[in-house]
Amino acid sequence: MRLEVSAARASLHGRLTPPGDKSISHRALILAALARGRSRITGLLESADTLATKAGLEQLGAGFADEAGCLAVTGLGREGLQRPAAPLDMGNSGTAMRLLAGVLAAQPFESVLVGDASLCSRPMRRIIKPLQLMGAEIEASREGTAPLAIRGRRLHGIDYASPVASAQVKSCVLLAGLFASGTTRVSEPGPSRDHTERMLPAFGVAMPAPRTVTGGAELCATELAIPADPSSAAFPLAAALLVEDSELVLDGVGLNPTRCGFFDAVREMGGWLDVEPGDVQGGEPVGRLRVRQRGGLRGFDLPPGWIPSMIDEIPVLMALAACANGTTRIRGAGELRVKESDRLAVMSEGLRRLGADVTEYPDGADVTGTGRLRAGEVDAAGDHRCAMSFAVLGLAIPGGVKIRGCEQIDTSYPGFVRDLSDLGAEMALREGT
Ligand code: S3P
Repeated sequence: MRLEVSAARASLHGRLTPPGDKSISHRALILAALARGRSRITGLLESADTLATKAGLEQLGAGFADEAGCLAVTGLGREGLQRPAAPLDMGNSGTAMRLLAGVLAAQPFESVLVGDASLCSRPMRRIIKPLQLMGAEIEASREGTAPLAIRGRRLHGIDYASPVASAQVKSCVLLAGLFASGTTRVSEPGPSRDHTERMLPAFGVAMPAPRTVTGGAELCATELAIPADPSSAAFPLAAALLVEDSELVLDGVGLNPTRCGFFDAVREMGGWLDVEPGDVQGGEPVGRLRVRQRGGLRGFDLPPGWIPSMIDEIPVLMALAACANGTTRIRGAGELRVKESDRLAVMSEGLRRLGADVTEYPDGADVTGTGRLRAGEVDAAGDHRCAMSFAVLGLAIPGGVKIRGCEQIDTSYPGFVRDLSDLGAEMALREGT
């Protein structure tokens, strides 16, 4: 599959609610499945990644039914999960695998988590180690990757200092902690997204201190409204910043401060962005974004402390940087090398091909806009966020871009091509390589 993007011939205009938040959707499905009773979730992201979590939970016995405008989940209660008859396939989703591993490590049965080639090359020791400290029995490949064979055990609580600012690690340990004896606490080198901590109280689980759970808590079914994903909103937002005279409104977007680094970065680059806070839904702040193209962007030094709050937006930031005046310096982003692809390498290679000046570092890159971007073909290496970043950039390149390796866009943003086309962009998916 190839995505062909033409240079924009007119400005982008319109109003759009981006798809539901991927991180929050995974958590809503898992917690609803563990809760006693019937939960109702609106705004859930139905993408390949979240469908993998849902299918895995179905194999464990949870019930899902589409009701008018929402997903009803019949939860199993904390002791109701059933031994799965076959391995659970997490597809491309690191979140699905790492979070479910935390739950499964504490169940009185064996289970196996598998995934696609990308997921089976991603590091799992970061969750295996703390789970083993809690008493879990998990077997991985010699390289510490999936498949994961989990022999459920009685776990005990730990105080875990994670070496990485990773919400997946933190959430895995906290979910295991719900089933462990005593208290489980996680600390991390910087604040990662805190959706798990915000959602647990919505299911009736008290958190005695930040990033702390007490084993044995019962989860009670609830109603949840999931905001639009700020990481998906970043793509139409970036498109509007790159196409002359564009103006967009993005509604219902999650404004959790642990996710908003990209909005600050855009403003640092001179982009016109208005963030209008609105309600709080299920513990998550939500609001409206207005973006206007007014003048060019300029490069800046991204403070490394901002990285966890925009970890998934670095590829699209690199695309913006390729169109900016001057150099954007990104450091402290080594985690990008172990995402769905090595995002630093994939973006650097593609941007260079399109005429940007990029110097790659082990933990980042310098991207300098040359003002001479040219049409070309790039490889997104099966990474949804790289594919969408190149697509947005293509709107600003005379002659456009062709993107290979873009079949995974559906993992986070199933309606991407339709949404961007509705705003006035010209892009189309074509069969073949
Ligand atoms: C996620 C956390 C982030 C992010 C991923 C989703 C989550 O990963 O990159 O897309 O839902 O917890 P890390 O926490 O491992 O950085």
